[in-house]
Amino acid sequence: MAHDTPSAWVRRFIPLIRPGGRVLDLAAGGGRHTRLLLDMGFVVTAVDRDIAGLHPLASGKCDLRALDLESGPPERALGPLGGFDGVVVTNYLHRPLFAPIAAAMASGGVLIYETFAAGNERFGRPRNPDFLLRRGELIAAFAVLTIIAFEEGEVTRPRPAFVQRIAALAGPLGRLPESDTELDATRRLAGGEPAPAA
Ligand SMILES: C[S@@+](CC[C@H](N)C(=O)[O-])C[C@H]1O[C@@H](n2cnc3c(N)ncnc32)[C@H](O)[C@@H]1O
Repeated sequence: MAHDTPSAWVRRFIPLIRPGGRVLDLAAGGGRHTRLLLDMGFVVTAVDRDIAGLHPLASGKCDLRALDLESGPPERALGPLGGFDGVVVTNYLHRPLFAPIAAAMASGGVLIYETFAAGNERFGRPRNPDFLLRRGELIAAFAVLTIIAFEEGEVTRPRPAFVQRIAALAGPLGRLPESDTELDATRRLAGGEPAPAA
């Protein structure tokens, strides 16, 4: 599987984000989720300290921000950015940002977070505990939100790793995504494609 393939966890929970809403892709890297979100009709703010690889995605619907998220006070790391209907964080961990991430969400917003966890040392990098979530850490970190899904353990794809992942709402419980079928329907709507015959 190519390393630019979107995370299955992210794909699973994107349908909970308000259609056409504003989504923050934090530490966006090469933009695998920025690209997916744009394809699905969202307005995306992609933040990374290195946005060179993101330039082809820049548009009226995609705001690129070159920010060092780890310099200065964490509460100022995102500057004026906030009010997001969705926040996506994958394969990135800087613990002081947990509270600013939660604060950057609009009411009803959806947080989708997936990164490496303690246990990953067996498989390779990252091995440094600074970059590995402790057991159940995302649940505690985002207790201020309504947690709708949490997983922790070993995965084999896109490569063997130990991960932790959460989906949480800035608001009360609501409906859950049904399956990739729903995601496919959302993508068809965004792309104006016709639905297949029943
Ligand atoms: C492993 S990549 C993950 C990229 C993307 N989220 C993904 O899963 O495809 C980690 C990203 O964090 C970014 N990053 C690391 N430290 C950062 C910092 N201090 N400020 C902003 N971005 C940072 C790196 O530039 C890199 O793009």
